[in-house]
Amino acid sequence: MSDYEKKVIRAAGFIQTKWNDCPEIAIITGTGLGEIVSSVKNPDSVSYQEIPGFPMPTVESHPGRLLRGILGGKPVLILQGRFHLYEGYSPREVSFPIRVLQMLKIKTLIISNAAGGLNPSFKAGDIMVIKDHINLTGENPLVGPNHDDWGIRFPDMCQVYDSGLAGKAVEAGAFSGVEVKQGIYAGLKGPSLETPSENRYLQRIGADAVGFSTIMEAIAAVHAQMRILGVSIITNINKPDHPEPTTMEAVIQVAGKSAKKLEAILSIILEGLDAE
Ligand code: HPA
Repeated sequence: MSDYEKKVIRAAGFIQTKWNDCPEIAIITGTGLGEIVSSVKNPDSVSYQEIPGFPMPTVESHPGRLLRGILGGKPVLILQGRFHLYEGYSPREVSFPIRVLQMLKIKTLIISNAAGGLNPSFKAGDIMVIKDHINLTGENPLVGPNHDDWGIRFPDMCQVYDSGLAGKAVEAGAFSGVEVKQGIYAGLKGPSLETPSENRYLQRIGADAVGFSTIMEAIAAVHAQMRILGVSIITNINKPDHPEPTTMEAVIQVAGKSAKKLEAILSIILEGLDAE
């Protein structure tokens, strides 16, 4: 057994001992979205620091806490804070929480992030459901020996993001008076933001939004056969012909403002989940 596998088992064992009835749904919250948990009922949390082998986020906007509670009437595990390639974490470290969730038998994974908008019809504060992604990080969490009991060597990627869940997100948005956009997420390594020429390139290859997270997690979750919903909060618009500077402070502020809308949408989706 590899050290990585041992670490995953230890972390999952710790969580199972703490909460013996583990939920089947998990949510990863991105930059500035830690607040989506304000309506979680019966919250109980553990700091990532207490979980053996769990990394700690190095960016301030990611609290580093695992929360268990009820959202939309369903028990959920919420990862408040994630790991990014730009922090210097390896693809396997970035996807470590996904392996722990796999060990905990999580079936549905909701990944949220903050992203820059590339589609000219988007505006700051919009919510975009991810239809598909383009991995431009040059990395992949499945590189190296395959853990056959975790998943297959060559996982198919023709539907990473579940179209049923994406449809439910659009419907939930309409129900709560929010127009939910749909689009393609391009993932880069970061941390430097995009140049105008890079933004033009991203638009030309079909990306609607760009960010520095999600892709490693989504690939590991496909390998783990999870059903995935990906949601981006569009925090800024990247216009190649009229470039404007973007600051992380502004990104965090816009994400925080849209967190309530996202929370309402997620809550409606979760409420409807057992009707299947
Ligand atoms: N680029 C990359 N990541 C981001 C952006 C962006 O413009 N906005 C929020 N996260």
